Amino acid sequence: MLDRCPVVPVVVLDDPAHAVPLGEALLAGGIDVVEITLRTAAGLEGLRALGKLEGMLVGAGTVLVPDQVDEVVEAGAGFVVSPGFSARVVDRAAERDVPVLPGVSGATDLMAVVEHGLSEVKLFPAGPLGGPAVVKALASPFSGMRFMPSGGITPDTMGDYLALPPVPAVSGSWMVERTLLAEQRWAEVTARAANAVARARR
Ligand code: 3PG
Repeated sequence: MLDRCPVVPVVVLDDPAHAVPLGEALLAGGIDVVEITLRTAAGLEGLRALGKLEGMLVGAGTVLVPDQVDEVVEAGAGFVVSPGFSARVVDRAAERDVPVLPGVSGATDLMAVVEHGLSEVKLFPAGPLGGPAVVKALASPFSGMRFMPSGGITPDTMGDYLALPPVPAVSGSWMVERTLLAEQRWAEVTARAANAVARARR
């Protein structure tokens, strides 16, 4: 999943009607994967709408409990992301045959991830935890683990993470800030997406 696009936008959706224009704006900027969080009531409906947009891989974020795995799979989610590690969420995702990226913030979480046979995780919250230095420290005992750092990442810091071999992708909300969505500034979303992709390729 982490090889598809080096930048994954994290979306907090307030209006499900914004989902498709948002997806089109991201595709126009060169981003074909997006994480819609379950932090708002509109999230699930937006996920369902966006799942039908050709060429876009839509995942569900902020999945906290196993029943939400069922809900998002039924809404068409192509992957599941959690902010932390839950064995029950991971097991339900396996039962539903959907890729899952559990969140980790340290070595204990990664031990649980290894026990569950997974090798891709979301490192959260990457910035407050210490940035790229934390990835380097954790990658040493967990060789083969692949990280998607998230939380506090900016256009200026994303490259420092992506320069590390165990980091195929980063995620963040800066490309899809809530105010941009509220004001339907789709051209700005496209510009931010294109800028992020260009920086990721450097
Ligand atoms: C999240 O799940 O909220 C992501 O980590 C995004 O964090 P950001 O808003 O700091 O980019």
